[in-house]
Amino acid sequence: MQIHIEEIPEAELKPKYESEEDIGFGQIKTDRMFTASYRDGTWKDLTIKKYAPIILDPTAVCFHYGQTIFEGQKAFWTQEGHINLFRPEKNAARFNLSAQRMMMPEIDPEIYLTGLKELLIIEKDWVPKSKGSTIYIRPAMIGTEPCLGLRASNEYLFFIILSPSRSYFPEILKLYVSEQYIRSAPGGMGNAKTGGNYAGSLLVGQEAKKAGFDQVLWLDAIHRRYVEEVGAMNIFFVYNDIVYTTPIEGDTIVHGITRESAIQLIQDFGYTVKEESLAIDKIVRGIKEGALVESFGTGTAASIVPTGSLFYQGENHIINEFKVGSLTKKVSKRLLDIQYGNIPDPYNWIVQVI
Ligand SMILES: Cc1ncc(COP(=O)(O)O)c(C=O)c1O
Repeated sequence: MQIHIEEIPEAELKPKYESEEDIGFGQIKTDRMFTASYRDGTWKDLTIKKYAPIILDPTAVCFHYGQTIFEGQKAFWTQEGHINLFRPEKNAARFNLSAQRMMMPEIDPEIYLTGLKELLIIEKDWVPKSKGSTIYIRPAMIGTEPCLGLRASNEYLFFIILSPSRSYFPEILKLYVSEQYIRSAPGGMGNAKTGGNYAGSLLVGQEAKKAGFDQVLWLDAIHRRYVEEVGAMNIFFVYNDIVYTTPIEGDTIVHGITRESAIQLIQDFGYTVKEESLAIDKIVRGIKEGALVESFGTGTAASIVPTGSLFYQGENHIINEFKVGSLTKKVSKRLLDIQYGNIPDPYNWIVQVI
C-alpha cells in the first residue's frame, strides 16, 4: 500500500499550543490530514497532506442528501513514550457498517488503519502528554459527486484529521429524558454514525441545556418507555451486583466500543451484566427505592462518566446522592490505566503505534 506524503515547508507549520490545560476539545487541529478518494469503483490517491479546507461543488451529494459518516477514536501517550490506539479495528469495522447503511463504499480496513498509524507517526509531536489529554481522531467519509438528482454519489472522499483534546464532558452528568422527541426507530439508521442522527439531536440537546441539564437520555420510538442511549454515549444502570445496559441487537443505537469494553471489565470485577432494555418508570422506581445504586455513560469522547441525576416527567431524580459510584470509579480507572499503558492489557485491546 503506497501512501504519498506531501512535504510542508517549515514556515507553514502551525505553532504548537502553549499549555495542554487549555486545549479544549476539537479546537486545535494538527498540521496534516490523511485523504483517499473513491472513483471508478476503487479507493486511490492515498495521501498525507497539509490540513486544509475541502473544496466541493455546491451540488455535491453530501450537502443535500446527507451521505456523510464518521468515527471518533483516541490515541494515548504513555509514560514510556509510546502512542497507544484503543481497539482501532473496531472503529474501522463500525465505519464500514455505517457506510453500508448509507449506501457508501466500504473502505479496506488496511487503508483506514495504515493511514491512521502513518498520520499519527508523522504528527507524533502533537500528541498531548499530560493526564486527561489525548489526541482525538476523526475519520470521516463524504459523498462528493456533483448531482442534484436523488441518488448515491459515485465519488467519495475519506479523510482522517487529528485534534489534541481534553474531555469536554462534566464530571457528573445531569440527564434529561425527552418525551417529545426520539433519536431513531427500528428500521432506521440509529446504529450508523451519520450526520443526520446528530443534527436531529441538536434541538433537544439545546432544550436540555436551557433547562440546566447536560445530555439527553433517549427513549425508544415505539413505546416511548425503554431507555436507548445518551447523546454520544451508551448507558449502564447498576442494581447492586447486576448491571443493565441496552442491547445492541436492534438497529437503533450505536454499538459503542467503550460499552463493549466496559461490559468485559464489569464481568471481570465479578458483576453480572444483563443486556436488556430497562423501562424508564422502572429506573425511576429503582432510584426512589434505593435499588438502583449507580449509573454511568460510556463513550470515546467522555470515557466513563457517572450519571448524577435524571429528569423525567417534570421531576429530577438524584442517583447515589449525586456522587460517583464505586463500580463507576473502578471501571473508569481500569479502562484509563489500560489505555494509557499504566497496567498490562490482558485483552489485547491496545495497538501500539510507536
Ligand atoms: C450516539 C452514540 N452512542 C454511543 C457512542 C459511544 O461509542 P464509543 O464507545 O465507541 O465511542 C457514540 C460515540 O461514538 C455515539 O455517537
